[in-house]
Amino acid sequence: MSKQFSIIIVGGGIAGLATAIALRAPNRKITILEQSSLNREIGATISLQPNASKIVEQQWDLSKTLKDKGSMVDEGFQVYNLDGELQMRVPLSTTEKYGAERMLYYRIDLHDALKKRATSKEWDGEPAEIRVSSRVTGCDCDEGVVYTQTGERFQADLVVGADGIKSVVRDAVLDTKVPALRTGHSAYRMILSIDRLLTDCKAFCEVVDPRAPYTTMVMARNRRMIMGPARNGSVYSIVAMVPDEDLGEDPNTTSWTTHGDIPKMKETFSDFPEWARGPLSCVNDGEVGLWQLRDIDPLPTWTKGRVVLVGDAAHAMLPTQGQGASQAIEDAEAVGAFYADINIDEGGLEQVKAVNEKIFACRYKRATTIQQYSRQAAKPATEEGSVKVKMSPSEFMDYNCNYGGAVEWLRRQKEEDAKEAGGDKLAEDISKMRIVDREVSAQEVVA
Ligand SMILES: Cc1cc2nc3c(=O)[nH]c(=O)nc-3n(C[C@H](O)[C@H](O)[C@H](O)COP(=O)(O)OP(=O)(O)OC[C@H]3O[C@@H](n4cnc5c(N)ncnc54)[C@H](O)[C@@H]3O)c2cc1C
Ligand SMILES: *[C@@H]1O[C@H](CO)[C@@H](O)[C@H](O)[C@H]1NC(C)=O
Ligand SMILES: *[C@@H]1O[C@H](CO)[C@@H](O)[C@H](O)[C@H]1NC(C)=O
Ligand SMILES: *[C@@H]1O[C@H](CO)[C@@H](O)[C@H](O)[C@H]1NC(C)=O
Repeated sequence: MSKQFSIIIVGGGIAGLATAIALRAPNRKITILEQSSLNREIGATISLQPNASKIVEQQWDLSKTLKDKGSMVDEGFQVYNLDGELQMRVPLSTTEKYGAERMLYYRIDLHDALKKRATSKEWDGEPAEIRVSSRVTGCDCDEGVVYTQTGERFQADLVVGADGIKSVVRDAVLDTKVPALRTGHSAYRMILSIDRLLTDCKAFCEVVDPRAPYTTMVMARNRRMIMGPARNGSVYSIVAMVPDEDLGEDPNTTSWTTHGDIPKMKETFSDFPEWARGPLSCVNDGEVGLWQLRDIDPLPTWTKGRVVLVGDAAHAMLPTQGQGASQAIEDAEAVGAFYADINIDEGGLEQVKAVNEKIFACRYKRATTIQQYSRQAAKPATEEGSVKVKMSPSEFMDYNCNYGGAVEWLRRQKEEDAKEAGGDKLAEDISKMRIVDREVSAQEVVA
């Protein structure tokens, strides 16, 4: 029998749990180190785009579990102006075109389902072990060693950095501190029961039916509300985006868990008409989160030695395209695919390094394009972005949704690279950011 393959995953968020699922196999020991106690209820919804929902629901067999928890198909997208006039409604059933739906989950439900799938004996492969209250403070990439705040030391053949936008592991990979960048926008977020909306916010419900499985946006010049139902239509999630300069609160102190000040929020939206303000006035104290939107610039690499980064640690992006969790899931699938047939050698550093490089090369262009597009979509239409992705929204939707997993993606990339060796419409911008260029020879493509 070959040597046991030991893996440490730093971070038990969506990326970390998904990577554990994708890596689970016999003779593998997976340990997830999570700083929190993992029992905080976060009132928020999260969406998965078709390709990621397909991985989670079909490949990882979580469709029934999530359905029982009240998962919903996001059937389309609609935009209202402040006068309550419908500007646009796009039904977006994606099954026919992309083979799966865009799904809406209560974030905690998705997290719980992934946690169970990673750690339960019900599925094949050694279950992963989660150690909570284990905050990683340092990492030696070549040795595969991580240290925790409590002075513990863990070592493994492979270390996955899934520790989110403020990743400590990323700092070790790049040997420098990578700041999360302020994007100039913050968002209030809240979850209301639909029953409460129907009784207390009648004017709002006359315009927008909160039970309809639609993502709804109310657009004002520099502010917008993005809303949608969750848990079988029993709750409604509202994210109200505000430029930092119009925010009555200190934008420097906001994290995922900062509470928003309701009077200040109402003040910020006081020029909204009554119907649109409705939901903001029927929320109670302690129910509003304030979240500063941050992302990071594309990184020169996601890997060093035994370490590879996934999820927000690698490519934190703005939520404008609802792609943060989807890209984390796609990373996880890629890590699983590239390590699928690997039996680890004694030592094994060169072996792990080579696989990690392949994961980076496979995932970088797609995740970076979506990250850039998400940043671009947050800007008012008139403002010039520093990097432009030259795709229309519908081209982008196709780009988003035509992802067949890591192996299929590599094959397609090779074809495209070869075809467009002269000047890919996208590559123009992306190549400026791409440090590691994959040279693809004609023989390779033919083979
Ligand atoms: C509380 C919370 C609320 C969120 N709400 C939304 C939302 O409403 N809408 C949305 O689109 N996205 C939201 N996100 C982000 C979204 O979940 C991510 O973009 C996406 O799921 C990718 O996740 P990730 O696992 O890479 O990062 P995260 O979801 O940030 O997970 C990182 C995990 O690593 C842990 N961690 C961090 N540092 C360390 C360390 N040094 N040692 C050990 N563990 C560490 C964190 O506690 C966390 O569990 C939220 C994230 C969090 C953590
Ligand atoms: C959601 O609806 C499905 C049926 O469509 C049901 O099986 C499930 O129990 C419901 N879950 C919740 C939490 O309401
Ligand atoms: C927030 O941080 C920025 C940049 O560091 C600083 O210029 C600004 O004064 C800070 N704002 C507040 C309210 O502290
Ligand atoms: C994503 O969608 C495309 C187009 O339908 C499909 O070819 C591909 O297999 C899907 N990806 C996954 C991971 O199933």
